[in-house]
Amino acid sequence: MPELFESTKIKGLEIKNRFIRSATWTGMASASGYCTEKLTQFITRLAQGGVGLIITGHAFVRRDGQAAPWQLAIDSDDLIDDLRKMTDAVHHAGGKVFMQLSHAGSRADTELTGIKAIGPSIQRNAKGIECRAMSDRDIEEIAASFGQAAVRAKLAGFDGVQIHAGHGYLLNQFLSPRHNDRSDRYGGKIENRARIVLDVYHKIRNDTGDAFPVIIKINSQDHAIGEFVVNDMLDLATLLQTAGIDAIELSGDRHHVNRSISTSEGMASTEKEVYYARQAKLYKEKMITPLILVGGIRSFHIAKQIVNDGVADYVSLCRPLIREPALINRWKSGNVQKSACISDNLCIKPALQGRGLHCVAEKHKEINLVSKRH
Ligand SMILES: Cc1cc2nc3c(=O)[nH]c(=O)nc-3n(C[C@H](O)[C@H](O)[C@H](O)COP(=O)(O)O)c2cc1C
Repeated sequence: MPELFESTKIKGLEIKNRFIRSATWTGMASASGYCTEKLTQFITRLAQGGVGLIITGHAFVRRDGQAAPWQLAIDSDDLIDDLRKMTDAVHHAGGKVFMQLSHAGSRADTELTGIKAIGPSIQRNAKGIECRAMSDRDIEEIAASFGQAAVRAKLAGFDGVQIHAGHGYLLNQFLSPRHNDRSDRYGGKIENRARIVLDVYHKIRNDTGDAFPVIIKINSQDHAIGEFVVNDMLDLATLLQTAGIDAIELSGDRHHVNRSISTSEGMASTEKEVYYARQAKLYKEKMITPLILVGGIRSFHIAKQIVNDGVADYVSLCRPLIREPALINRWKSGNVQKSACISDNLCIKPALQGRGLHCVAEKHKEINLVSKRH
């Protein structure tokens, strides 16, 4: 029976347990995307806290793909030296670290980039700003940018890379019929909508070599953002498996829905744990590529069940590790009390204000108590 605290390998890379820190934007890079000492310390704390594999926040592979302020960049060789300090520190703490490679497409923040956004088709973003539809040449150049970014990540000492093809960003936009109304070989049936994802994968594989781990994060289905359905996910996963991807992380856009509700109201998520369990089961019935499952996992017994029952091969956490970076070591020591994280997304606010990602729940509780007293 697979166990949470056994070591496993992804493409020959040994990972000491089955816990993964899911990619998390922290708002701690410099304004132009360099890795800072603060970000290095934040990531290192996770390695010290027992996480087997850490995935960085989404790093943009090209300037016009920047989604958020103080986001990591990987679009230039100048960034490598500071990133090397991060990977060295993680390795010194006994951890492993992958860089997540991303392009925001039509969801890029054009106020930050000053460049017209691109997408599969002409679309308006949430601010009403229109993007331009990509040509074949644009698609080729984007795949090349992902390849170059992966080479930089490898030079910076990362143990692997993760392609971000979920959460409404560029590659997800191609996958989603709501965003992609192309009639060429990049639009229409799922094999066509997935073509750019495969192009990106092949470019990275070609540029980094056969031994370098390359994994991907995809939506289990689109709930709010588009019409990428579970069968599309299964078809996409099959294409990626055939192409040789080393692991697939199943996510979704549900937390984006929660975010808009809960950040404004400061509400805890009322959804039960393991948001994408149903889709994971369908994946496991069909696929052999290792599955990383993320979304609302907060309890040790649930994490254990996921692995023991073969629901997924790896348990991936984001918000519980913002609340408690040493959660994994605590669980390992036998104190298996549930994470105190309530998945309310309030941690995003200070990061958006340039104060860096941190859990504000304790403070929030204090404020509530004070206001109740008055
Ligand atoms: C503050 C914050 C930043 C995030 N940044 C990223 C990111 O850079 N890349 C990504 O793929 N997902 C990102 N996510 C989504 C998480 O990786 C994860 O999929 C989601 O939070 C659900 O997992 P959880 O319930 O363990 O938090 C972010 C989520 C939060 C709350």
